[in-house]
Amino acid sequence: MKPSLTGIAEVNILKDFNKLTLDIIGDTAFGYRFDTLISGENKVSQAVETLLRGRTGVTTRFLRRIIPFYDKLPTQHNKMMAEAIDVTDSVVKQIIRQKRSELESSGGRVLGSNLLAKMLMVQDDESGKRLSDQVIEAQVHTFMVAGHETTSVALTWTFYLLAKHQDVQEKARQEAIAVFGGLGTIDNTHLDELKYITAVVNESLRMYPPAALFMRKVVADDQLGEYKIPKGSYVVVPICVLHHLEENWANHEKFLPERFLGDQQISNYKFMPFSNGPRNCIGRKFAMLEMKVAISKLLMKFKFNLDPSQGELNTQLRLTLKPNPCPILRVSLIES
Ligand code: HEM
Repeated sequence: MKPSLTGIAEVNILKDFNKLTLDIIGDTAFGYRFDTLISGENKVSQAVETLLRGRTGVTTRFLRRIIPFYDKLPTQHNKMMAEAIDVTDSVVKQIIRQKRSELESSGGRVLGSNLLAKMLMVQDDESGKRLSDQVIEAQVHTFMVAGHETTSVALTWTFYLLAKHQDVQEKARQEAIAVFGGLGTIDNTHLDELKYITAVVNESLRMYPPAALFMRKVVADDQLGEYKIPKGSYVVVPICVLHHLEENWANHEKFLPERFLGDQQISNYKFMPFSNGPRNCIGRKFAMLEMKVAISKLLMKFKFNLDPSQGELNTQLRLTLKPNPCPILRVSLIES
C-alpha cells in the first residue's frame, strides 16, 4: 500500500489479497502464522508465487514438451524453481514439526481444531497407525496452494468490479452495515443474512472464475451429442466459457449481481466456479465464508475507486484466471 497526504492510498489489491489469504489459510488450517500482511512480503509467499508462475508459464510448458529432461537442466529458471521448492518444503516441514512437538508435549492431546491438528491426531482404530509425515506434507502443500491463490484472485476481481460499479459497492456496504453494524464479532448466522454480498461474490465468480477450467479422464467410451469420446481421453471443462454462454446468461458481459437474487435456483451445470461431482472444491464453503467476511469488513471501513490511469483489464490464464495488469485501486477511509 502507498499512503498519501490526501488520505487516499493506491493499492495493488492482488498483492495484498495474496498475503491476506496466505495468512488466513496458515492460521486457520495449520495454526501457523505467516504474518505476511503485517511484516510485508516474505519468502514463503514469494516462493509460492514463483512456483505458481513457473509451473504454468507457456514457454516452460513448451520447453518441457520438446526437451524431456528440461527440468533437470541447470537453467536460471530451474534454479529459481528449485530454490522456491526448498523454501516451501522447509516451511511445510517446519509447520508439521512445530505441531508434532506441541502434540508430544501435551501428551498426545488436544492441539486445536485446525486441519493439521486433526491430521496429526487421527489414528486407525485397529492398527493404531497415524498418517505418515509424507502424506501430511502433501496435504499441507495442497491446501496451502489451493487454499490461497484462488481466493485471492476471486477477491481481486470482486473489488475491481465493486470499484467499477459504485452503485453496487454502496448497496453492498449498506447491507454489511445493516447486518454487522455495532457488532464486535461476525458469526456464521449473520453471514447467512448477506444475500446481496453473496450475489456479488457469485456474479464475480461467474464473470471471472479463478479456476477457469478443469480436466477429467474419461473412464469409459461415451457419446456427447455428435462427438465420440473414447475411454482414456481427457476432457476439458471450460468453466469460463460455460459462464458466458449467451443462452444461459443474457448480457453475459455485464456485472449484474441481481442474477443471483430471487428464488430461482441456478443449475450446477450452468454455474460451477467450484466444479461439480466427487472432486469438487473441498474448500468452497470456507472460501465463500472467507470472502464474505473480508468484503464486509473492508467495505464498512474503506471506499474503493478505480485509478483513472488504469486502462481496461485483460484476463490472463495461468494456474488461475488473473487480471492483467494487476488492478491498482484508490482506497480511502470512510469518516465515521
Ligand atoms: C474462490 C475460491 C476457490 C475456487 C474458485 C476454487 C475452485 C476449485 C475447483 C474448480 C476445484 C476442482 C478442480 C478440479 O476439479 O480439477 C478445486 C479443488 C480443490 N480446492 Fe478449491 N477453490 C477455491 C478455494 C479453496 C480453498 C479456500 C481451499 C482450502 C481451504 C480449497 C481447496 C481445494 C482442494 C484441496 C481441492 C482438491 C479437491 C480434490 O481433488 O478432491 N479451495 N477448487
